[in-house]
Amino acid sequence: MPRKLAAGNWKMNGLRASLIELKHLEDKHGDADVDILICPPATLIGACEDTPFDIGGQDCHMGESGAHTGDLSAEMLADAGASYVLTGHSERRTDHHETDEMIAAKSQASYDAGLIAVICIGETLAEREAETTLAVIDRQLAGSVPDGADHENTVIAYEPVWAIGTGKVPTTAQIAEVHAHIRSRLTARFADGAHMRILYGGSVKGSNAAEIFSVANVDGALVGGASLKAADFSPIITAL
Ligand code: G3H
Repeated sequence: MPRKLAAGNWKMNGLRASLIELKHLEDKHGDADVDILICPPATLIGACEDTPFDIGGQDCHMGESGAHTGDLSAEMLADAGASYVLTGHSERRTDHHETDEMIAAKSQASYDAGLIAVICIGETLAEREAETTLAVIDRQLAGSVPDGADHENTVIAYEPVWAIGTGKVPTTAQIAEVHAHIRSRLTARFADGAHMRILYGGSVKGSNAAEIFSVANVDGALVGGASLKAADFSPIITAL
């Protein structure tokens, strides 16, 4: 069974000066017995080469190379020092109209480059209110996760869109229901589905992390805003 994972997604935040936060985090968690992943903007990946933490990209192109101005291939991320990459984050699905098919192709490109894909799924508020959450999860899992997924190359991140950056968090019963559902789908489809890590993401903070981590099938967190400052991320790592 892989170790629990605390993942920080800096999104479009961070200049070189922000790397001091990594140093603060290293002082406290440099030899933590959980996996710690930081996904800074791609401009900072190379500057993170001395950190003991895993480094990830926030997106990659599905192709290996070519005329795609502004895009980065999975191999480029690996070459810069990344070992993980986020695929299918809801902000990519919304801002860049990424489909499940595109996300599966990006995840496969990640595997081909030797990266671990953190494949993000989750329902919108309208979908939850329409009681279609589990159907959305089924569709996204089936469409976004390649057949070659296993517990070494894939992490699933469940992020209800309505909980991202809003301060709203599902109840532990709601998290438990969705994570159990994801687990059942993974074990039905993949031989090692029981060992694939499932993260919860959406307004995780030091004050709610322990409660969220107590839920069955929650193997860590994908954290946005609270990962930007070591003082905010540290208690989440400690709670894991
Ligand atoms: O990738 C991280 C998630 O979108 C969660 O963001 O912790 O700011 O709600 P948040």
